[in-house]
Amino acid sequence: MANKKSIHGEWSSRFAYILAATGSAVGLGNIWKFPYITGENGGGAFVIVYLACIVAIGIPIMIAESMMGRRGRQSPINTLETLSTEANANKNWHYLGWMGVSAGVLILSYYSVIAGWASAYVFKAIFGGFSSDAIVVKATFDDLLASPIQLVFWHTAFMVATMSVVMRGVNGGLEKAVRFFMPVLFALLVLLVGYAMTTGEAYFKGVRFLFSPDFSEIDSDAVLTAMGHAFFTLGLGMGAIMVYGSYLPKNVSIAKTSLYIAGADTVVALLAGIAIFPLVFANGLEPSAGPGLIFQSLPIAFGNMTGGWLFGILFFVLLVFAALTSAISLIEPLVAWLVENKGFTRTKASIVSGLCTWTLGVSVALSFNVWSGFKIFDKTIFDLLDYLTANLMLPIGGLCIAIFSGWIMHKKHVSAELDLPGFQFKVWGILIRYIAPGAVFLVLLDVIGVI
Ligand code: PFF
Repeated sequence: MANKKSIHGEWSSRFAYILAATGSAVGLGNIWKFPYITGENGGGAFVIVYLACIVAIGIPIMIAESMMGRRGRQSPINTLETLSTEANANKNWHYLGWMGVSAGVLILSYYSVIAGWASAYVFKAIFGGFSSDAIVVKATFDDLLASPIQLVFWHTAFMVATMSVVMRGVNGGLEKAVRFFMPVLFALLVLLVGYAMTTGEAYFKGVRFLFSPDFSEIDSDAVLTAMGHAFFTLGLGMGAIMVYGSYLPKNVSIAKTSLYIAGADTVVALLAGIAIFPLVFANGLEPSAGPGLIFQSLPIAFGNMTGGWLFGILFFVLLVFAALTSAISLIEPLVAWLVENKGFTRTKASIVSGLCTWTLGVSVALSFNVWSGFKIFDKTIFDLLDYLTANLMLPIGGLCIAIFSGWIMHKKHVSAELDLPGFQFKVWGILIRYIAPGAVFLVLLDVIGVI
């Protein structure tokens, strides 16, 4: 099995894989979600819990998930079936693959709506430029959310773009899309941080908010959100990295590449935070403004700065592309399965999975306006999908991946795939067998009130 290749192709190089997996990791989660959930959960202490989750839970599970992908070489569902046969384990493990595929569709349905907001802002930047007045900027955002037609239009445009990249397959579509955009996005974020530094006192206030912890702000929900976000931002727990790992050439070190990817992802999130909070404070906005935070703060900066028109356009274009490279990884597990098990062509598989996701996405778009009163468990459709996937499905998926790779797979298969020096393998083994599953389990128990 170790030398088998995926029928869907293989990354052309180690660098191509790093780019693609970084593309999956870096997205709206870093630039849109990280700042607003940090703002909602009081800042510094939340950031520390989040960083601890990345190191103790995220990185070991990322290594495990890509390792399983490369060993199984198929869609997550079939990979789990193959690996459980190899380990003489219960076949029901393949349901974990199904949970992942469903999580991908559910996440993409709202991810695409938010990416639609960013797409709408590209056009607002081009045609209107941005106002430097916080009230006008807020009104522009509220108008967008109030319009079902605009939201559905941009959601549709984003889904069409995603599916047309996915159709082209591993080397043609996925690789090319990330090669260029990742470095440019990074450069632009650094530039925005430079701009934030010009806000004087607000800059220090922003940085203090982000890095000086006040643990009284943290309750079990905040810990769950931080942990869920560690899974979300690294793209773990649902098979995205597993399916990318299945296209990974044999000689590439999984542990090293995982460290690069998690490192890059974390740096991008922190840069986004350092760029955004000074602007929030400089303009009298609330850090706890919620999902609209970057859409209400960044345009003010672009409205104020010289050349802001161009930077504004560039920033939102890049945000859309960062979202696109994540979106393709969210749907790839389902597309790969449709090709493997239903004999669909890639094109047909992309269209079918795109249509299902789009339909669900329309209800998310409506949950910001005409259906905003419709609530389940006191949550709108958007809030519910976000909570269900990021806070529950991904951590539970990650927990199962940790158990499967740490306890079910044969050690000799795991170590052949990871090829780590003895000590490093031991450290990973402790993290994946005890620390990561233990931590996820405790947080979940805490949330349901058992402890
Ligand atoms: N990591 C992406 C982001 O931070 O925007 C979102 C994502 C991608 C979540 C892939 C889950 C996933 F499997």
